[in-house]
Amino acid sequence: PTVTFVQSTGESIEVAVAEGTSLMRAAVTNGIDGIVGECGGQAMCATCHVFVRPEYAGALPPVSDDEDEMLDCTTSERTEASRLGCQVKVSAELPSIVVDVPADQV
Ligand code: FES
Repeated sequence: PTVTFVQSTGESIEVAVAEGTSLMRAAVTNGIDGIVGECGGQAMCATCHVFVRPEYAGALPPVSDDEDEMLDCTTSERTEASRLGCQVKVSAELPSIVVDVPADQV
């Protein structure tokens, strides 16, 4: 699977990752600016906040209560497209995804 991260500057970086990899892990492993993953993927820090492009949103699992709470603590304001990168994993059902990195997170 591939994950494409689009920065607020318009720069876009596509990375290839193994199935089951979270967006946060994909970003941290590949040194994507703006995604820190401070809590290590526990849905407890919101430093992995991303905006999922609408065409991919339907394939994602629903937002859990923990994720929902943490999404209220993001640096850039939450939108309909907001997800925690650590809670979204790529898989056979979701072989590619494009997300925007929040401007204020960089
Ligand atoms: Fe901390 Fe996702 S890495 S909430």
